[in-house]
Amino acid sequence: MIRINKNESPLRPLSNEQLAEIIQQATFNFYPDDEYNRFKQAYANYFNLKPTQITAGNGSDELIQKLMLIMPEGPALTLNPDFFMYQAYAGQVDRPIEFVDAEDDLTFKLDTILNRIDEVRPSFFIMSNPHNPTGHQYTLSFLNTIADKMKAIGGYFVIDEAYLDFGEAYDIELESHILQMRTLSKAFGIAGLRLGVLIGTEETIKRIQRIEHPYPLNTITLYIAIYMFEHSEMTASFIEAQRKLALKLRDIFKNEVSDIIKIYPSATNFVLTKGEAAHSLGEYIQAHGFLPRLYDEPKMSDYVRYSIATNEQLDQLAEIIKNWRIQYDLSKKA
Ligand SMILES: Cc1ncc(COP(=O)(O)O)c(C=O)c1O
Repeated sequence: MIRINKNESPLRPLSNEQLAEIIQQATFNFYPDDEYNRFKQAYANYFNLKPTQITAGNGSDELIQKLMLIMPEGPALTLNPDFFMYQAYAGQVDRPIEFVDAEDDLTFKLDTILNRIDEVRPSFFIMSNPHNPTGHQYTLSFLNTIADKMKAIGGYFVIDEAYLDFGEAYDIELESHILQMRTLSKAFGIAGLRLGVLIGTEETIKRIQRIEHPYPLNTITLYIAIYMFEHSEMTASFIEAQRKLALKLRDIFKNEVSDIIKIYPSATNFVLTKGEAAHSLGEYIQAHGFLPRLYDEPKMSDYVRYSIATNEQLDQLAEIIKNWRIQYDLSKKA
């Protein structure tokens, strides 16, 4: 079964030779003292930041859990739907969490969010942008309006940019109440090595580092990540290859089925589908060797989501969709 249900990277960023060289050099018999700082420096250089503006963890998952622990007292607020782990981690640490409910088409109105912030007065508001599960990227002015509102009520705004490498880059002006969360699990292709990053002002990062472990990341992960960010051209072209796969995935769905299934325009490495026929297609694809994301939650039961695969696998997927389409059209004629 080819897994396209978790928005992972179908490609590895490094060759076997590069990996062998890196692992041979990795001094994993020692605690990683300097490596964490070297990673932050390399990451900061790549993104034009200062290392003091960064803290990292075992995937953004761990960082979300940390935020649930370290943010000031009060409820968290998020979108419904959004990345499920926000509520899962809030539940783990008894952080109350409230939601802004989506419109029927899964979009969110700015006014609804702002009103909900007034009602809930959250200690922090967290949302993914581009948004999981729709793939929609909200504009900078949308984000800035939320940021200003959160500032006005004395709360933090956390933007989870897990998929931003597939969308349109923007420059949000960092203030102490704003945090950007990134992951190396998607476009950077190292989900299994678990590396997530929080970016903020020095003061806010220091606050989060109060609960940092002495060695937040393991040596192998750090060596690989340092290599990637110290070889910026190689890494940039890897990201470009991922973006191409994302475009190809979007095009397949647009060209083959968008006249009969609602396809959400996506700024990510996945595509969300909805419609009478979306489930039938999802099940057909699943019966033909690919595992898409089908949802248990009642609110999402009409939807099926697909993430990128390799170029050849996407060709196979396109064939499967074409075959399903022939059968579907025949069944409608009958
Ligand atoms: C919006 C969003 N944030 C965070 C994550 C988790 O990323 P990580 O692998 O860094 O824990 C995901 C994974 O699917 C995601 O969709």
